[in-house]
Amino acid sequence: MAKLQHVISADQFHDTAFLDELFASARQMEEADKARRLSSPLSGRILATLFYEPSTRTRLSFEAAMLKLGGSVLTVENAQESSSAAKGESIADTIRVVSGYADAIAIRHFQEGSARAAAEIASVPVINAGDGAGEHPSQALMDIYTIQRELGQVAGVRIALVGDLLNGRTIHSLLPLLALYPDVTVDLVAPPELELPQKYITMLRDKGVKVQETPDLEPVVASANVVYVTRVQKERFASVESYDRVKDVYVMSHAIAERLKGDAIIMHALPRVNEIAPEVDTNARAAYFRQARNGLYVRMALLQHLLG
Ligand code: NCD
Repeated sequence: MAKLQHVISADQFHDTAFLDELFASARQMEEADKARRLSSPLSGRILATLFYEPSTRTRLSFEAAMLKLGGSVLTVENAQESSSAAKGESIADTIRVVSGYADAIAIRHFQEGSARAAAEIASVPVINAGDGAGEHPSQALMDIYTIQRELGQVAGVRIALVGDLLNGRTIHSLLPLLALYPDVTVDLVAPPELELPQKYITMLRDKGVKVQETPDLEPVVASANVVYVTRVQKERFASVESYDRVKDVYVMSHAIAERLKGDAIIMHALPRVNEIAPEVDTNARAAYFRQARNGLYVRMALLQHLLG
């Protein structure tokens, strides 16, 4: 497969061939890990994780991925307060300097476009680990991998995307990847305040994806193969009042989960707040913890691709 220099946007992926190879590599990583026979192909290499916004899964799974491949990590969590950003240093200067210490940089920042700007300056591969309400491409790769693992294929899938489609960067990256597969139907379930920006709907329709919009969860329950629930992105709201108005707009309960198709799956990038009741966790359809686990192997495959 053509080698990627950086991973900034899901728009970088033009066909499923790259994804197939990446997923085959992720599968091998998982098997080797479980058999405790992982080698150390990235020994001597360093990943820097520069996180200006909170994270549990993304940062730790990138770091675990690097360590399992024999590499090392330099980690800056809470970078806005704990790095020289607090002294007024620009991201550009930080990236220039960190490029000299690390072989790759995974960056999460609250400004949309920040990862792309970092990639223009960096002399090493940059991975966008979330740029504001923009994108989160490695999450989208592990999400597609999860759909494929759970349902056998992505082609023909009917997926309901539920919640904050305006600010949810995992959704913004997932949509272009879904559009690479034939015969996909997307049901957009959001209140008027949190609707998916029109540019994504246009992109989907241009690529032949069937798209429907509804403010209610009810009409999509019986037909979905995948229900992808998202957190209302509190940190993107201008006021607490505007957040409070929509925060619990959809709640996946045991009763709703039981009305999904028997082989449907429920996904969530996590963290969840109230949008999936804990009682759903023991339902066989609940795929979100498996999804998080898949992230480790997809990120191992991605690091191996970028640095191997
Ligand atoms: C997501 C994110 O940061 O965009 N989390 C993650 O990376 N697993 C989703 C979210 O925070 O709601």
